[in-house]
Amino acid sequence: MLQEKIGFIGCGKMGEALCKSMVNSRLSEASRIIASDVLAERCKLLSQEIGIQTTQNNKDVASFADIIILAVKPQMVNEILADLKNSITQRHLVVSIAAGIPIQCIESRLQSGVRVIRVMPNTPCLVGLSATAFALGLHATQKDGQLVSTIFNSVGKVFHMDEKYLDAVTGLSGSGPAYVYMFIEALSDGGVKMGLPRDIATILAAQTVLGAAKMLLETGQHPAQLKDAVTSPGGTTIEGLSKLEDSGFRSAVINAVEAATLKSKELGE
Ligand SMILES: NC(=O)c1ccc[n+]([C@@H]2O[C@H](COP(=O)([O-])OP(=O)(O)OC[C@H]3O[C@@H](n4cnc5c(N)ncnc54)[C@H](OP(=O)(O)O)[C@@H]3O)[C@@H](O)[C@H]2O)c1
Repeated sequence: MLQEKIGFIGCGKMGEALCKSMVNSRLSEASRIIASDVLAERCKLLSQEIGIQTTQNNKDVASFADIIILAVKPQMVNEILADLKNSITQRHLVVSIAAGIPIQCIESRLQSGVRVIRVMPNTPCLVGLSATAFALGLHATQKDGQLVSTIFNSVGKVFHMDEKYLDAVTGLSGSGPAYVYMFIEALSDGGVKMGLPRDIATILAAQTVLGAAKMLLETGQHPAQLKDAVTSPGGTTIEGLSKLEDSGFRSAVINAVEAATLKSKELGE
């Protein structure tokens, strides 16, 4: 269990998912977590649902917490850091999950020497299956990196990477769940078109994605090997694959990752 007290600045979808998973995985006691949000209603809901402390004043988060997790929209980061400049000191570790915001941009708005780590998680952290990458700032130590690894390992897989890769991580796994939801919905639509009941089609589609991902992670085989293994000559699967190729499926996915990566870069400019 973490000894450090955790504070969330902004507790929307990602903040809530992280908070809940930290409490559910017993990484932290709810009483050692504080979260701020602009809306009183939201604060009340978070306190009731997770049992954490909440506040509408970001400075309360800085006074309480050792680790400050910045979980607001990227556009809000500058304004919030300006407001907290005197409250965040070298005793804090600042962990930013804001898409696209470079470490240097955060460090330059804080007192000198403050330790900063940039993290890109994704929402499946709520079910313990997040894919996360993080990069250390100028003053962050290996021990800080281990702490962040521990936090995000408790909710999935985590990789320590150079910051230059984080926009691409954002385009792939940060935004990736949305691509996969769209794929699942499309698979289900295909099933419904062919006469399956909607509820069963959607579960068949989701379980297929889950199972295929698990096969890949557990066997360590290349996706093409696993694909070939279920594609018999003249069979049904090659008919389906051939239509996906005709429709530019691979290029569509590659272009999606590229566009989201470029958008992440743009947010940081
Ligand atoms: N969603 C994802 O899959 C994902 C994945 C990886 C990283 N991220 C990053 O995580 C960050 C949060 O994303 P999200 O999807 O959780 O956004 P979100 O749901 O909009 O959460 C942001 C929260 O911060 C609150 N907030 C706004 N201004 C504030 C202020 N001045 N002080 C304190 N709280 C404030 C917002 O309140 P109001 O709604 O009332 O304005 C909202 O509840 C973003 O930077 C995003 O790039 C998201």
